[in-house]
Amino acid sequence: MAHSSMFSYNITRPYPMRWFTPLCIIGFIIFTVLFSFLNFVSTGYTLVVQESSNPNATVDSGVWMHHWPSFLTSKVQPTCQTVNLPVGSKFFTNQTALTYTLTDVWQPQAGGAGAGYGIAPSLSYYNNVIENCSVNSIEIDFAAMDRSANQFAYSEWGAVVRSYATCEIIDTNGSTKFNLTQEYDYVPPTVSFSTLYEFLGTNFLTRNKTDKASLYWGESMMSMYWAYTTRQMQDIRANQTSNGLPGIRRGTCYYYLNDDQTVTNITQLNFFEVDFRFIVDKGQGDFDVIYPGSYGRYQDYTSVANLIKQGSYPNIWMSADILAKAAYSTVLTDLGQVSATPNILTDSEYLHHFTSNFSEARHSIANAYPGPATQAYGTEGTGPLGTTPSVISTKYLCQVPQRKSAGNLFVAILIADLVLLQALWYLFQLGVEALFLRRRPSSNNCVGCAVQPAAMMGGYREVAPEVRRDDKALEELEMSGLRSSRRPRESSTHTRSISQQRLIRPESMDLGHRF
Ligand SMILES: *[C@@H]1O[C@H](CO)[C@@H](O)[C@H](O)[C@H]1NC(C)=O
Ligand SMILES: *[C@@H]1O[C@H](CO)[C@@H](O)[C@H](O)[C@H]1NC(C)=O
Ligand SMILES: *[C@@H]1O[C@H](CO)[C@@H](O)[C@H](O)[C@H]1NC(C)=O
Ligand SMILES: *[C@@H]1O[C@H](CO)[C@@H](O)[C@H](O)[C@H]1NC(C)=O
Ligand SMILES: *[C@@H]1O[C@H](CO)[C@@H](O)[C@H](O)[C@H]1NC(C)=O
Ligand SMILES: *[C@@H]1O[C@H](CO)[C@@H](O)[C@H](O)[C@H]1NC(C)=O
Ligand SMILES: *[C@@H]1O[C@H](CO)[C@@H](O)[C@H](O)[C@H]1NC(C)=O
Ligand SMILES: *[C@@H]1O[C@H](CO)[C@@H](O)[C@H](O)[C@H]1NC(C)=O
Ligand SMILES: *[C@@H]1O[C@H](CO)[C@@H](O)[C@H](O)[C@H]1NC(C)=O
Repeated sequence: MAHSSMFSYNITRPYPMRWFTPLCIIGFIIFTVLFSFLNFVSTGYTLVVQESSNPNATVDSGVWMHHWPSFLTSKVQPTCQTVNLPVGSKFFTNQTALTYTLTDVWQPQAGGAGAGYGIAPSLSYYNNVIENCSVNSIEIDFAAMDRSANQFAYSEWGAVVRSYATCEIIDTNGSTKFNLTQEYDYVPPTVSFSTLYEFLGTNFLTRNKTDKASLYWGESMMSMYWAYTTRQMQDIRANQTSNGLPGIRRGTCYYYLNDDQTVTNITQLNFFEVDFRFIVDKGQGDFDVIYPGSYGRYQDYTSVANLIKQGSYPNIWMSADILAKAAYSTVLTDLGQVSATPNILTDSEYLHHFTSNFSEARHSIANAYPGPATQAYGTEGTGPLGTTPSVISTKYLCQVPQRKSAGNLFVAILIADLVLLQALWYLFQLGVEALFLRRRPSSNNCVGCAVQPAAMMGGYREVAPEVRRDDKALEELEMSGLRSSRRPRESSTHTRSISQQRLIRPESMDLGHRF
């Protein structure tokens, strides 16, 4: 008695078709390559979180994947998140010069700020170019005694220059407008004593005289006229007190664009109008306020030209006006307003005009030394003037596809390939069997059956006894008289299944035929 195992194996025989082997090998190679490639594209990459300061470039770096069907690559496209800049936050542009505070955000389409609609708590930002900026006003706040002793050592008077601007970004949702405030104080409260009698380099994050010449001159003009104007205030106060007169304690000048739209030459004195208040400390809690109406008709004395002509007290009008114009131009340059005119810093004629008194001004300063340029434009070589469009400098969280490690990738692709190739092989076998083998009557015989027909025939009878038993049972059933009129042999043949018929076929097989 042969041992009968729980497991069994199939008896195989070679495929009878001549084309079968080459087709299999070629198909195997082609499909291995194809499956490896598809598996590589769809599973070879994992998304990792990265920080990027240029999301457009990061997203474009995955552009090769755009050519493949999205169902394969949608999970491995690089994406970046928009950044929310809350109202009140500070930022700088990619010119890396001045720092701004975001003060208002609104969407004009949603009713505008006036209607109270469309006011947003933050600016949704995605590397949009800052557009359509206008500097609405410049304010210069003067203060003397109320500053820290540290600041006082640099300069008895201080000035804080605030620039108010409105800008716009245009994204897929349309236009979003926002207000910005820029605050410039050459000697800020945080200044260190260590830079006394040196160029301080405050407020501007970087400078480069060849690459960003316009901003280099903007910083020079702002610090120079800051130092010059505050020294003038110091001299005026000294003159007052030496004459036994009360001095000014604080003051503010508010520069706004002339309503007359025809004034486009920034060198003209009526480019800005000025409103102001100066507080004269008379002691014992008593004070006077100097305002345009102090000299005559209010409207006449908001004109810078009139104030200069009259030499109105305190006579800082010329230098404070230039300081305001320098701030105006620097902010527009830093915000990348390429086409903004007029702008001192992008026009060499204007820049010549406004820096022509640099060496003179340099000698009328206190201990805060301005810079980086201290000579008129043209005396030292700087790069070309001009600006480039600006974007807000911030970090974006991006998901970037990263290739899996080689070992990881090999195992992943190998397993996926094996599964797919196995499935394909199975389907192929089914197809070949259905299309080619079914038609050949002898193809389901084992090799041995073909070689030793007599021996195997006996075997058939043994392995399929139930066929005969069925025959017998049917015969017995019909013989028992229920349907005695029928021909029993024929009906029993009909009830056999196809496979049973096949098993019985060998009796009629053409044994001489070989493949
Ligand atoms: C700032 O970014 C804009 C937009 O990407 C670019 O055109 C410009 O050259 C950049 N400016 C600087 C100074 O890097
Ligand atoms: C933005 O600033 C401009 C000028 O300073 C002002 O008229 C406007 O009301 C401000 N916008 C909002 C929403 O406050
Ligand atoms: C970056 O892409 C966004 C969205 O596509 C677009 O609005 C923005 O202008 C682009 N920024 C730059 C600097 O090209
Ligand atoms: C803003 O800029 C766009 C193009 O950059 C221009 O078409 C549009 O007229 C500008 N809007 C204003 C209010 O200046
Ligand atoms: C556009 O607005 C929708 C809904 O307010 C917001 O989810 C989406 O982030 C906005 N898109 C941009 C680019 O700001
Ligand atoms: C200024 O910019 C140029 C060009 O980017 C660079 O080669 C140079 O080192 C920069 N200079 C300074 C002082 O950073
Ligand atoms: C100094 O003050 C006196 C009296 O107010 C004035 O007449 C004179 O012009 C002042 N001088 C300067 C340089 O301001
Ligand atoms: C601006 O005005 C000054 C003096 O009034 C003149 O010399 C200069 O050519 C003018 N500039 C422009 C651009 O009109
Ligand atoms: C330069 O100084 C001269 C003489 O002090 C003065 O007349 C002129 O207005 C000054 N120019 C500027 C731009 O400050």
